[in-house]
Amino acid sequence: MLHLDLEQADLFYSEDEFSLFESQLQAASDTLDQKTGAGSEFLGWLDLPSTMESGLLERILQTAAQIREISDILIVVGIGGSYLGARAVIDALSDPLRSMGHPKKEGIPAVVYAGHHLSGRELAAVESLIDRYDVSLNVISKSGTTTEPAIAFRRLKAKIEEKYGVKGSAERIVVTTDRSKGALRSLADEVGYESFIVPDDIGGRYSVLTPVGLLPIASAGIDIRALLSGAKAAEQQYRETDLAANDAARYAFCRNVFLRRGYAVEILVNYEPGLHYMAEWWKQLFGESEGKNGRGLFPASLDFTTDLHSLGQYVQDGRRMLFETVLDVKDTGVRVEVPEASSDLDGLNYLAGKDMAYVNGRAMTATALAHVDGGVPNLRIVLDRLDAEHIGRLLYFFERACAISGYLNAVNPFNQPGVEAYKQNMFALLGKPGYETLAAELESRL
Ligand code: PA5
Repeated sequence: MLHLDLEQADLFYSEDEFSLFESQLQAASDTLDQKTGAGSEFLGWLDLPSTMESGLLERILQTAAQIREISDILIVVGIGGSYLGARAVIDALSDPLRSMGHPKKEGIPAVVYAGHHLSGRELAAVESLIDRYDVSLNVISKSGTTTEPAIAFRRLKAKIEEKYGVKGSAERIVVTTDRSKGALRSLADEVGYESFIVPDDIGGRYSVLTPVGLLPIASAGIDIRALLSGAKAAEQQYRETDLAANDAARYAFCRNVFLRRGYAVEILVNYEPGLHYMAEWWKQLFGESEGKNGRGLFPASLDFTTDLHSLGQYVQDGRRMLFETVLDVKDTGVRVEVPEASSDLDGLNYLAGKDMAYVNGRAMTATALAHVDGGVPNLRIVLDRLDAEHIGRLLYFFERACAISGYLNAVNPFNQPGVEAYKQNMFALLGKPGYETLAAELESRL
């Protein structure tokens, strides 16, 4: 199960605030469920877990099995919502060696990522893997025109075709894109690549439970049925109308109370390195959904206890504008004890026989109490286990909370107009045809 613990957060607001806020929270929640709010054409994710077509699921599983059979490495090409969800789930649930680039193990290919930056150095390193290993590639782009994945795919496709031939590479390239529009759709139809559709009514950051996320996740050997079953349980649970008992609504409420009290930054904290990319996904989800019209909390993330030795000082004692939300995993399924040492030179025998999960848990509690004393409210999202079912619950919990939170803060949580500004300037400065006037204006400012 998953639950929200506000014991170390509700010290920072008064009991009355929930009652005062309740009608707004109810209105935001109803707006979402009745699909009457801004951006309601992008609510395909809302009942996705309970309406997933079994035929689509079967096809994803079959394609993933084929990828696993013929590949040492799966290269996932995509950016933002077309990559972060898959990476978040794969890193959370895979053998940690896999995120350190470990090659194929027990029939599961390593997953590497490309097309999420413009570094030639990084892309060249991925390309070099094609010389040494058998690869498959899943290119994911809803628009089919995003510059970063388009450049990476152009190069990687050429390299794969050089190795396997055009026909052979058609078995190794899978396209996930729009139903009818864009360059990738035309290419997939022309060459005959296996392809999956990004639904029209689901934006990138809400697409992890569509083929965008499910194909790479299944290829990495993760049980996507369990992932969807967790998400489905969350879908049912958070339709709960008693908002005081609805954790997704209460999380949205808390964030907005702190925002209105002047807190500017929410830090998502993990104590499991495998959850690092869950926070990256969460940052996009909340940042892109809420950061508009001069509003919104800035979503940041820290990996504890690692970052307690770097940014811990700031959290404890720096400018008071932070609250933190901790991902607390109760059972990772792995026991690692601190051993007894006869000399006890390092003075650690007081921990001998203790599981590292116990040490980690005590560190978490100690840190929360210290941060609360330092004026940092502490919310805790507790996951009983680190498995596909719980991660499915967590994804849906955040998606729903984010939508409610956006409506509470009077923004459209499903658009991202601000993402275009840098793209327009970049196209102009790169000399893309059609951008001449903007290019001249920008050059005059340099
Ligand atoms: O959430 C979003 O809409 C964005 O992050 C997109 O997913 C990202 O920009 C990639 O777009 P596309 O899938 O069209 O390549």
